[in-house]
Amino acid sequence: MLGALYFTPEELEIELAWIDEHVDGRPYGVDVVMPAKVSLPAELAGADDLEAALADMIPTEHREFIDRVLAEHGVPPLPDDAESGRRLLGWTPETGRPQVDVSFRHPISLLVNALGPPPKEVVDEAHSHGVKVAALASNVTHALKHVDIGVDIVVAQGGEAGGHTGDVASMVLWPEVIAAVSPTPVLAAGGIGHGSQIAAALAMGAQGAWTGSIWMTTAESDLAEPIVKKFLAATSRDTVRSRALTGKPARQLRTAWTDAWERPDSPGTLPMPLQFMLVGDALARIQRAQATDLMGMPVGEIVGSMSSVRPVRDVVYRLVEEYVEAVDRLRALDA
Ligand SMILES: Cc1cc2nc3c(=O)[nH]c(=O)nc-3n(C[C@H](O)[C@H](O)[C@H](O)COP(=O)(O)O)c2cc1C
Repeated sequence: MLGALYFTPEELEIELAWIDEHVDGRPYGVDVVMPAKVSLPAELAGADDLEAALADMIPTEHREFIDRVLAEHGVPPLPDDAESGRRLLGWTPETGRPQVDVSFRHPISLLVNALGPPPKEVVDEAHSHGVKVAALASNVTHALKHVDIGVDIVVAQGGEAGGHTGDVASMVLWPEVIAAVSPTPVLAAGGIGHGSQIAAALAMGAQGAWTGSIWMTTAESDLAEPIVKKFLAATSRDTVRSRALTGKPARQLRTAWTDAWERPDSPGTLPMPLQFMLVGDALARIQRAQATDLMGMPVGEIVGSMSSVRPVRDVVYRLVEEYVEAVDRLRALDA
């Protein structure tokens, strides 16, 4: 799966062309983030420069708060010639839809939507291209909505997952969703970093597992070195579900930055997509200054088990071994 969120349609086209050249016909999919609820004010519909119009909606109080927090940590402003961090990512219908259009021009097998059900017309169009559709769900109500509009596979993602997440734990969520949407296949996500967890998910009736966090400390990952170091040192209690990054709750490493948004002088977070537009520049400044206290990243509670950098191949072999060991333990109970 390729996550498309951070790519412009032009960049996504380059990435998918690269994949087509390198996977020798093997199946792959694209993940987009089209939230069910992003209510842009009506007067912005059809704005010539949507990003600039949205940027004008960010209150001065919020910009001043960010400047104050960064000043406290000695983070300087960006130089005039630096690339701005402000960016409206693919999470409005206006910016997500072009990513879907690019994806349909490639031989993708699966289209996945991260935040709620994808628009019905996108599901229908995917099916007309022979593409299956999956969607992440963090509770039964969401999962049923997905199935209602024709989603083929539900990814049931527990609250321990990295990134945007709900608050029901995987152990409770997976069997609930599996029972509710049966016979629609379910992939289990949230907190998977050990093969025995995959065995548990399959025992509950899931058709497979869907993972995210564990790939970030692999040798192939391009994550910034200071964040890799923080991940390797973190325990499973060092993440927080916070709106500070995008305006919707997303689990991430707890840092001085996420703590700052909880302070009494915090103005509170803005709704998606304004929050990421607001913090985009700040994150660029933090990165440029290598202000490690403030540097973080979405990651799940499984970060506590991510204690060494290993090649993807090793991680996969280990998951398979652990899965087989778990199944053998269960078989031994029957003997
Ligand atoms: C850094 C990061 C970025 C993510 N971005 C996306 C995304 O763009 N789309 C999506 O569907 N899920 C995204 N996720 C969630 C994963 O797809 C997956 O459901 C989740 O990581 C599973 O839980 P785990 O982190 O415990 O493995 C992201 C997760 C992380 C950690």
